[in-house]
Amino acid sequence: MAPAPSSTSSAITLNINGEKHHLPIDHRTTLLDALRERLDLTGTKKGCDQGQCGACTVLVDQRRVVSCLSLAVAAEGREITTIEGVADADELHPVQQAFLDLDGYQCGYCTPGQICSAIAVIEEHAAGWPSAVTDDPAPEAGPPPLTPEEIRERMSGNLCRCGAYVSIVQAVARAAGEYAAEGSAAGKHTAEGHAAGTDAAEEAAA
Ligand code: FES
Ligand code: FES
Repeated sequence: MAPAPSSTSSAITLNINGEKHHLPIDHRTTLLDALRERLDLTGTKKGCDQGQCGACTVLVDQRRVVSCLSLAVAAEGREITTIEGVADADELHPVQQAFLDLDGYQCGYCTPGQICSAIAVIEEHAAGWPSAVTDDPAPEAGPPPLTPEEIRERMSGNLCRCGAYVSIVQAVARAAGEYAAEGSAAGKHTAEGHAAGTDAAEEAAA
């Protein structure tokens, strides 16, 4: 029987990857610990546990958050996406496919966080959000070119201890190129999108 709610615990419902999970939880539990320790969603990794490395990045209402610094209770009623939920059944998400094709990882520990972050980066860029290295941050200037420098800056919250950064930048560039060609961040692979993405990745590699 579920414990009765108290001043330090509650029964909450988390909507994760389109599935509802009901669980009694201590109010101090982080979203990361709820995912890994309570719900067995161990794709999300714990690196530093203090907001420094990005390994625990997930999407909450399509925005990236470091789940080690987010309380599970604060995520109730919101749409949480973890690495387990980014693929479409057997079809990998374009960002996942690009990481695979271009070797955007070595040990893979940081990869779930890198991929979740990259998905949000592409959305943020397409929506015209500037970064610290954007030349003209005025909204009317529109999205800046997604140069390797822009990608590095926007992904700078995600550390890779193996140093796979060169391939990670290429993978993000390729996926962003595919999205742009298809006109939708939720788009699927097409020959046209893949060609555009490959051009972008080659540019990032140059
Ligand atoms: S584990 Fe969350 S930022 Fe490092
Ligand atoms: S692939 Fe090993 S830490 Fe990034």
